[in-house]
Amino acid sequence: MAHVTLKLGTSLDGRIATAAGESRWITGEAAREQVHRLRAEHDAVLVGIETALADDPELTVRVAGYNGPQPARVVLDSRQRLGSERRLVLSAREVPTYVVATTPAEPRLTGAGVKVLTVRAVGEDRPELKTVVEALGKEGLSRIFVEGGGQVAASFIRCGLVDAIEWFRAPVLIGGEGRPAVGALAIAALAAAPHFRRAEVRELGPDLWERYEKVGHGSPD
Ligand SMILES: NC(=O)c1ccc[n+]([C@@H]2O[C@H](COP(=O)([O-])OP(=O)(O)OC[C@H]3O[C@@H](n4cnc5c(N)ncnc54)[C@H](OP(=O)(O)O)[C@@H]3O)[C@@H](O)[C@H]2O)c1
Repeated sequence: MAHVTLKLGTSLDGRIATAAGESRWITGEAAREQVHRLRAEHDAVLVGIETALADDPELTVRVAGYNGPQPARVVLDSRQRLGSERRLVLSAREVPTYVVATTPAEPRLTGAGVKVLTVRAVGEDRPELKTVVEALGKEGLSRIFVEGGGQVAASFIRCGLVDAIEWFRAPVLIGGEGRPAVGALAIAALAAAPHFRRAEVRELGPDLWERYEKVGHGSPD
């Protein structure tokens, strides 16, 4: 069965980037290293296309002494906007790389070794997430590590698909104009808000690492 972990790397006020999109590096070295260890515990690391375009990430496990398998990389990208010059595409023959789209596979991406999964669309013609999780499961990818950004985090939460949160919080304030870690959830009443139970808190250098497990909807009390 699928297990989805949401990773958030935020300021104290829950922002993942400045208004201009600058996000490197909010959290410190120890937190970043822990994120890499968590990647290694998952089958796939998933991001939204805006994160892939803004940060051009590799999404690999880079920890001294680690020589285990690399998790697959997955980009939610309805219209296949991921450019051929991006690191994820350039390294697709070395590390399994998926684009989840709602349009037929682009030869530009498949020719570079990217596997394009075309799935059912909902709302703004975006991949329907339960279908995405099922499609990834068929590829043998059931432990999924969602690394953002805010829109993708909100979509997974809205669908009730987030089983755990790994929250890395840096002692910095970015302010309300910064980009929120979790986008709009369309929650009308607090009773309907998804609740989580804190399982663990640790200090990682200057940052805090909080681990949460899903409780369900409504207050745990
Ligand atoms: N601090 C951190 O740890 C951290 C981590 C990640 C990102 N960031 C920052 O966050 C910013 C990007 O975040 P963002 O919220 O703007 O974008 P995002 O969540 O990375 O990507 C959103 C895009 O993904 C596509 N998408 C496809 N299926 C989707 C679905 N079911 N639900 C939602 N989106 C879907 C949509 O584009 P299409 O409609 O074209 O498919 C949507 O515009 C960047 O500045 C990045 O640097 C920071």
